[in-house]
Amino acid sequence: SKPAPHVLVLFGATGDLAARKLFPGLYRLALAERLPDQLAIIGSGRSPSADEDFRDHVRQALKEFVGDIDESVAGPLLEQISFVASSADDGTALAEAVHDAEDRLALGSGQTVGDVQRLLYLSVPPQAVEPMVAMLAREGLNERSRLVAEKPFGTDLASARELDAVLSDAFDEKQIFRIDHFIGKEAVQNLLALRFANGLFEPAWNRHSIESVQIDVPEKLTVTGRGSFYEGTGCLRDMVTTHLCQLLGFVAMEDPHAFREGAIRAAKAAAFAAVRPLDPERVVFGQYDGYREEPDVAADSEVETYVAIEAWIDNDRWRGVPFYLRTGKALAAGQRTITIRFIDPRHQWLQPADPGKAEPNELVIELSDDARIEIEVRAKRPGPGMALTEGVFRLDLAEDSPDSGPLEAYERLLLDVMNGDRTLFTSAREVERLWEICQPVLEHLPAVESYAQGSWGPETALELPLGGWRLGRSMP
Ligand code: BG6
Repeated sequence: SKPAPHVLVLFGATGDLAARKLFPGLYRLALAERLPDQLAIIGSGRSPSADEDFRDHVRQALKEFVGDIDESVAGPLLEQISFVASSADDGTALAEAVHDAEDRLALGSGQTVGDVQRLLYLSVPPQAVEPMVAMLAREGLNERSRLVAEKPFGTDLASARELDAVLSDAFDEKQIFRIDHFIGKEAVQNLLALRFANGLFEPAWNRHSIESVQIDVPEKLTVTGRGSFYEGTGCLRDMVTTHLCQLLGFVAMEDPHAFREGAIRAAKAAAFAAVRPLDPERVVFGQYDGYREEPDVAADSEVETYVAIEAWIDNDRWRGVPFYLRTGKALAAGQRTITIRFIDPRHQWLQPADPGKAEPNELVIELSDDARIEIEVRAKRPGPGMALTEGVFRLDLAEDSPDSGPLEAYERLLLDVMNGDRTLFTSAREVERLWEICQPVLEHLPAVESYAQGSWGPETALELPLGGWRLGRSMP
């Protein structure tokens, strides 16, 4: 069934995230007929804009980031969109617009105003969150609302706690949805199915069988257009304490015993509790050549655009198994790959036919749009002799199932918010623990090493994992 009538207010509506992910997500939901029948979308930002101009802007974004759009879907969706300026100092016009929309939707659906759900999506820079929340409370918009907050949640442990205090003054914890869109990726949820529903993996998912884990998210994108966000945030806070650590949580957690909010959160929190605070000596920071010439970037900026990390989990399952996390902008490839490298059984009599190509024995989980899981194994080379060759088992996750195709991450999570399901959203406790884990690095920032655009990052990080990184390993 479709979600209840909704008024969705999108703060930061002219920003990069709205254009790249949120409006495309709403469009795809509309295409799949999953949006509420009664819906009003109010874009908001500091500079005023006429409804028509804003709709044009959204249409452009859909063309750029969705591609071919179906007019019979985009047209009605755009009709539901309006724009109302607001700021931390002034939310009067916005509050009026929300009330008007609620009246209209209630009338249209034959329900009461109280049946119309408010969804407030804060896609604003971290510094803007607290004053905006104060404004929402002043205007009474915190009542009956669900609030979606984008990462990063604070900039360190102290500011995350302060942010939580401000949020919990205005909202009940039940109203707050801390979004980390990596968790919305089909392949991430599939990790749980793979791990806990297969006799092949469940018993092997520990230090007795696994040598190391790599969570590798290189991006080709530069920060063009997002210079000021990046200067205030940096790669560690943008990607590592958030997306990469969440992936680590899904790889490392114990059986959650249920796919429910409390169960998933508790399992992740227990895994994070066992992660050892990072050793700054085992962290590499990089900055791509040309970053300082980007618009809105300081000429002497020391902000990192690349991070590589070694992490350890001190529990029975993972003791002694290194986790390597890497991500950066302007790198050689754009991928999101988790590699589970199994311990080599080291049979001397089974040697590869081509010694240069003898690396499989890995489980590879590809989280990209064409999500897939591959198991790379060693097999006998056909023909005479007894030499090994590489074989691959491959599972495509992007194939349509009979009743539903795969959902893109934001699409899935927007729908979950509308249905009030917080299973795939993060808790304040998790966020605080992740800041604790990263605190030693924040206190002893590694020197930023430069790297060429299109490379695999600073040389010093290439040797961080024993046996090297899986991605780019055959490249110079
Ligand atoms: C965002 C980060 O949260 O995730 C960006 O702010 C990054 O810097 C993006 O590029 C990557 O997301 P995806 O889904 O495209 O891998």
